This record gives sequence, C-alpha cells and structure tokens, in this order.
Amino acid sequence: MSKNTILQPIKSFLDYVSFNLQYELMLLSFRGKNRKEVFDDIYYRNRWGDRESVSGRGSNLQQTLVIIKKIPVLLEKLDVKTMLDAPCGDFYWLKEAQLNLDRYIGCDIVAELVTENQRRYGNETREFINLDLATDALPQVDLIFCRDCLVHLSFKDALAVIKNFKKSKSQYLLTTTYPGILENKDIVTGDWRAIDLQLPPYNFPDMLEIIDEETTERKDYKQKSLGLWKLSDIEL
Ligand SMILES: C[S@@+](CC[C@H](N)C(=O)[O-])C[C@H]1O[C@@H](n2cnc3c(N)ncnc32)[C@H](O)[C@@H]1O
Repeated sequence: MSKNTILQPIKSFLDYVSFNLQYELMLLSFRGKNRKEVFDDIYYRNRWGDRESVSGRGSNLQQTLVIIKKIPVLLEKLDVKTMLDAPCGDFYWLKEAQLNLDRYIGCDIVAELVTENQRRYGNETREFINLDLATDALPQVDLIFCRDCLVHLSFKDALAVIKNFKKSKSQYLLTTTYPGILENKDIVTGDWRAIDLQLPPYNFPDMLEIIDEETTERKDYKQKSLGLWKLSDIEL
C-alpha cells in the first residue's frame, strides 16, 4: 500500500473537520451582527463559494438553466408587467432570461452589489436599489420574485420580509420552497436550510403554480421549486 493511499483519507477527514469548524465559527460571528453586516460579510468574502456568481452555487448558469426558460413563460401567462426581484443578488443568471417587462426593480441589502448591477445592467426599464426587505418600504408591483432568500433568514426575519411583501399591496409572490420536507427549522440569519412554505410557521395556502427548478445542486433536496401565491391569500 502506497503512502498516498494511507494519507489521502486522513487528509480528506481533516479537510472536512476544518471546513465544518470554519462554518460554525462563521455562524457564531453572525450572532453578533445585524442583517446588513451578515450579508456584507458573505458578499465580501464570497462565502457561498461559487466561481461564477457571488450569489452562490444555486445561481450559476447550470443550476438556473430550467428557470431561465420557465419564468418568462409564467410571467407572460400571468400578464406580469412590473416585477420586484427581491433580492437580486448579482443578477448573474436572470440577465439571461427574456423578461418582457415594463419595469424591473432589483433590490438587495448589499449596497455594492446594487451599485455594480446598476452600472452594468441598469437602463430605462431596469433599476437596482439598495434596501432591507424586512424593514424598508417596497414598491407595489405585479409580482415579487424572491428566490433563495428566505432559506437564509431566521423565522423572525423571514416572517418580517413576507409581512413587508404583503404591505406593498403587490399581487403575486413567486418564491423558493421545498415541498415535502418534514419540518421547518429555525436558523441564525446567514445560515441556510430548506423550507416548505406550507408548513409552520409560514402556513401558506395551496400554490397556484409550481416551477420545479430541476436542480442538481444538492442530492438531498432535489425538490427545490418556485411556488406562486397571491399575496392576499397569505395570512400572517
Ligand atoms: C443566495 S442570494 C440569491 C440572489 C438571487 N435571488 C438569485 O437567485 O441569484 C441571496 C441574496 O439575498 C440578499 N439578502 C438577504 N437578506 C436580505 C434582506 N433582508 N434584504 C435585501 N436583500 C437581502 C443577500 O445580500 C444576497 O444577495
């Protein structure tokens, strides 16, 4: 048996322990930070670790191939003309979708992301604004698109965001959900876990439509989807 055959499993184990230790230390540091500080930290350190998009592995072009095609079809069917992309992240994959909108507003809590998006992608019908979805006033639009955000928020923050969506008097919410998971767990904001919005504490009603993202990002959560609701049907 070569030296490498013996050492490789030990190295893999140590890498695994080191990764998990660093992750736990990061979560510990998030406990003392506010929402802006948490997502600034994730952005500036590229904590989600994707080579293409600072918004993480779920936002690269391979993982969004299906939704780049399916979202425009759904928006057309619903006659959506105004959309709030909440949050927009780096707008990396959505720039590829053929959205036939009168007005697109992308927003994010990380100021530098928004400035950069505005510089690169802003135009007469497309603007990017810096705001906190949990607390700031939101524009009224036909559809709020909220992908891969509530999964990173504590119950308290996610519920504040959903209440704020309702407050905007916008019509539809299209957002990430994982139908069929057993229960929703609370986390510190900045961590991740799958959520099913039809389970407590969200208790959303039946969906109007569902888009299966057909993701290959995680073998344990293949059911990653975008669920569609009318905001007026959601009771919180
Ligand atoms: C995983 S990325 C997803 C971005 C985009 N929706 C996508 O699909 O690529 C999550 C984004 O949510 C933003 N975010 C988290 N909490 C927020 C809040 N309270 N208000 C605004 N943006 C927030 C983060 O800064 C980050 O850019």
